[in-house]
Amino acid sequence: MTGSRQVVIVTGGAYGIGRGIVEEFASNGFAVVIADRDNERGEMLQGKMQESRLCTRFIQTDVRSEADIESLATRTVEEFGRLDVLCNNAGVERYRRPEEYTTEDWNTIIDTNLRAAFLTVKYCYLHLKSSRGSIVNISSVQAFANEKEISLYAASKAGIIALTRGMALDFARDGIRVNAVCPGIIHSGMLEPVLQNAADPEVALKAIGNTVPLGRIGQPADIAKAVSFLTSQSASYITGTTLVVDGGLLTRLST
Ligand SMILES: NC(=O)c1ccc[n+]([C@@H]2O[C@H](COP(=O)([O-])OP(=O)(O)OC[C@H]3O[C@@H](n4cnc5c(N)ncnc54)[C@H](O)[C@@H]3O)[C@@H](O)[C@H]2O)c1
Repeated sequence: MTGSRQVVIVTGGAYGIGRGIVEEFASNGFAVVIADRDNERGEMLQGKMQESRLCTRFIQTDVRSEADIESLATRTVEEFGRLDVLCNNAGVERYRRPEEYTTEDWNTIIDTNLRAAFLTVKYCYLHLKSSRGSIVNISSVQAFANEKEISLYAASKAGIIALTRGMALDFARDGIRVNAVCPGIIHSGMLEPVLQNAADPEVALKAIGNTVPLGRIGQPADIAKAVSFLTSQSASYITGTTLVVDGGLLTRLST
């Protein structure tokens, strides 16, 4: 291991929750690799972080591509000399009834949300083993309880929890901890279509927030703090677990 600064890869780090995770780790002194397919947002975030003298590197990556993921792992370690944390955050959702989903929907959702988490781990494993690092996979409350018309997404997120558990067991003696975070309703890109269709987005935000027991929509920082905790020394005896960060959404049967 050559570098002394700890290094994290955040997939889908250019926007939304991933961006919050990038900002959290950067402000904690990590070198942060933003792995996102969105070149414009990735470059913009890298520029903004570097202006604040935060150590950030954008590597354009489509997590559906095995070649991109292999190159992401190689380039990260070439540049920074080590890898301590992998956060599998990139995700897509599509709302449709089961009979209306297409095979293309299945492939896109499963490849982005589930297969990518297997592939990043496959190519980052040796680096994480040598740093005794940790992995956080972003799942969702939809792994446990569904909205209507989102069954493929929910299946991918339930898969992430099983993958997390299995990897935690298989990597325990390597000193690599693996955990999952399940966000509830978070103010990020996934909420934008709902707000764009609302007559008054501010009123809509408040109304959605009122459906959450804690009375507000979550922010990317709420998820970022949970990810940061799970990768910290304070969580050194925690592996294979799923931390729900949803303002209490899953605690009740109806609003
Ligand atoms: N927002 C929520 O309410 C919510 C709730 C539960 C779980 N989640 C999960 O949190 C994660 C982040 O979601 P978000 O709300 O921030 O979404 P978002 O749409 O705001 O951001 C997603 C980011 O992932 C990137 N991305 C998408 N496909 C990619 C690919 N193939 N390769 C590389 N990058 C890709 C996008 O470019 C974007 O920067 C997802 O896994 C999502 O399922 C979100």
